Amino acid sequence: MTAAPVITVDGPTASGKGTIAQRVADSLRFHYLDSGALYRLVAWRALRDAVGADDADGLAHVATAIKPRFSDGLISMDGADVTDAIRTEEVGQLASKIAVFESVRRALLELQRSRRSPPGLVADGRDMGTVVFPDAQLKVFLTASAFARAERRHNQLIAKGLSANMPTPSQEHVRREIHARDERDAQRTASPLKAAEDAFRIDSSELSVDEVVALVLKWYAQSQEHAAR
Ligand code: DC
Repeated sequence: MTAAPVITVDGPTASGKGTIAQRVADSLRFHYLDSGALYRLVAWRALRDAVGADDADGLAHVATAIKPRFSDGLISMDGADVTDAIRTEEVGQLASKIAVFESVRRALLELQRSRRSPPGLVADGRDMGTVVFPDAQLKVFLTASAFARAERRHNQLIAKGLSANMPTPSQEHVRREIHARDERDAQRTASPLKAAEDAFRIDSSELSVDEVVALVLKWYAQSQEHAAR
């Protein structure tokens, strides 16, 4: 039996890959894997259980034990809705720190691969095309300028802060945080953020979400035609 098709969308923080991957999955009626959410879930639980950010064995144990449920855009774990709790900057930074450990990455591998099922999967993250699904039908590497990414993330934080009545950090602060995370994600030795050699690259700084989604769908259709030849 041939494995269900996979489209991977990798890229740095705030490049828009989550939005694009979700929209492509909806269009094709494929499943969607937000692999960053898994690293965030490990980080969230490590914070809750006071597991140290440098305790590789303890973190790998947490990664093996998580049993998240994804449904209708909500994420729950241990009976609690953690959808918003894992999106804080604190959890994001810790997720990036614990993601350097090979043992943590290995512990999450099966969970990620188990999401591949018919009719297909769109997976976003940092190493989807390089390590987790090296045989993906289509690999996309999505980037955007540092300015465009900081602006997007800042606007998201303003929207969140307004609804939660919280102060918003300055755009300069957001830019520095994004830069720190990019550096760590790209410099680590275990599955660093990088484009697969056979990935299609898109710079989304000047493109709308609709334009990027249309491009990915076009490339996917072409890859299918190619495979059918
Ligand atoms: O995509 P995100 O910002 O939600 O991911 C949070 C962190 O998790 C990111 O800074 C690095 C790590 N991560 C990873 O190492 N590999 C992935 N495939 C996805 C995320």
